[in-house]
Amino acid sequence: MSTKTVEKHTPALSANIGILPRNSEAVALLLNTLLADEQVLYNKVRSYHWNVEGPSFMELHKFYENMYTELAELIDDVAERIRKIGHFTESRLSNYLELAHLLEQDYTKDPKEQQKNLLDDHETICRFVREHIEEIEEKYKDVGTSDFLTGVLKEHEKFAWFLRAYLG
Ligand SMILES: [Fe+2]
Repeated sequence: MSTKTVEKHTPALSANIGILPRNSEAVALLLNTLLADEQVLYNKVRSYHWNVEGPSFMELHKFYENMYTELAELIDDVAERIRKIGHFTESRLSNYLELAHLLEQDYTKDPKEQQKNLLDDHETICRFVREHIEEIEEKYKDVGTSDFLTGVLKEHEKFAWFLRAYLG
């Protein structure tokens, strides 16, 4: 379990939804870590949307736009899931970089390098989410978050497939 920064506020009312406070706190930290990864990935995809070059420019420009649009929805869903279990979301860029598993990379306009970086990122998120789904359900008794994360996992599996197809 990470000991990294998490927003520290006290909600006006604590959530009385059947999850022990220490459990919802552990789940909120996992979700804030996922949120941080999603934010790093979102920013990277936007950068690639703007800076990609080559004969497939327009195809990739649109592909990346579709990806970051879906990531923006996921980011909102992850942040609101944290609120639903009674915690606050991380929202500072510096905290995202501190929490995230994903790394920022050197600028690149090369489509293959961009796709390889994005594939690594989506697969990293898939492994992180998969690793914690059962723990969140069985150890922390938060079946709602476990179910939610199954949907998140499938979105990242889809984009990992698309990227492997480009790179194949
Ligand atoms: Fe654009």
